[in-house]
Amino acid sequence: MDPEITVGELASDLAPAVARLCAAALDLPEDAAEAGIIVAALWPRAAADRPVVALGAYRAGELVGALLGSMSAADPRLGHVDLVAVAPEHRRRGAGRALLTEAERRLADRGAAEVLLAGNPPYYAWPGIDVRYTPAVCAASALGYRQDRTAWNMTADLSYDGSPALRSTEAAEARLAGQGVTVRRAEPADVPALAAFARSTFGGAWDAELTESVGRPEAGCHLAERGGAVLGFAAYGSSRPSWFGPMGTAPAAEGSGIGGVLLRRCLRDQRAAGLTSAQIGWVGPVPFYSGSAGARIERVFFLYRKSLEN
Ligand SMILES: CC(C)(COP(=O)(O)OP(=O)(O)OC[C@H]1O[C@@H](n2cnc3c(N)ncnc32)[C@H](O)[C@@H]1OP(=O)(O)O)[C@@H](O)C(=O)NCCC(=O)NCCS
Repeated sequence: MDPEITVGELASDLAPAVARLCAAALDLPEDAAEAGIIVAALWPRAAADRPVVALGAYRAGELVGALLGSMSAADPRLGHVDLVAVAPEHRRRGAGRALLTEAERRLADRGAAEVLLAGNPPYYAWPGIDVRYTPAVCAASALGYRQDRTAWNMTADLSYDGSPALRSTEAAEARLAGQGVTVRRAEPADVPALAAFARSTFGGAWDAELTESVGRPEAGCHLAERGGAVLGFAAYGSSRPSWFGPMGTAPAAEGSGIGGVLLRRCLRDQRAAGLTSAQIGWVGPVPFYSGSAGARIERVFFLYRKSLEN
């Protein structure tokens, strides 16, 4: 390792500098474009909710790399690396290795027995390492991480009026109205009912993603209800404006068209905000998204883990 490289904790007033570094270091344009938002979600915003490790790598006093990590809310034995980036002109000098080694130490101090290079919902920018970040894939295996899962996103094309992702929801909504189902934009007052619905129907805690989606300018959420009872919801933008999810429809309402309507309402909002495509993150039901929005599998991620024991 280059002896001039040192690693230390990042002070929170460095968030803009870290965002600039990530904009230059994230080689995929769609990630570089959202670097500032990603850093804000994974660091100051996430830190209000969960323990966060924020590290900088310095060379001759210059910030050349950054790492953001966190402890899992679901499992106190798991630590996560949420982002690691080294400026292109400072790579292959050991900054990445030094950042990951220090992160492992700090996560272990907080109780982690294993570290995952994988998204830690509700604040995550990627499910794992995009396979096109080849240096990161090489670094992960060089540093003792084992790939244990694969995840993928689907891309919905919002670039032209006739896209299947932008198909009208009017007829389907009229049909649903005939069955007493109302579809509308969610308001902050809906969050407790939506979170309770998500918990009781799917067993997942989506409270934070719902809170972060409802009523924030780059995000949104739509819901379906009958007689005041939630039947489904779809949200977007909780960590990244271009990302869609989570969504869920009550099993009893499956097949009624509610899911497709909720999905396309969100995609319509994202297009109105100026996006030409949306990422349906960490997918699940490929045929549903393909059928309802013409979405295609595009981004693929490797998820890694490393035991810190022995
Ligand atoms: C991944 C990344 C952080 C690595 O940073 P780095 O400072 O260059 O990493 P290091 O110099 O510590 O490399 C550690 C080891 O990883 C492996 N490695 C790193 N880059 C590699 C490459 N391009 N090809 C092959 N192996 C590589 C090597 O084994 C290396 O050890 P060595 O140089 O002694 O052979 C950097 O490439 C980066 O910022 N990439 C873009 C952002 C990114 O992909 N982040 C992950 C997604 S969040």
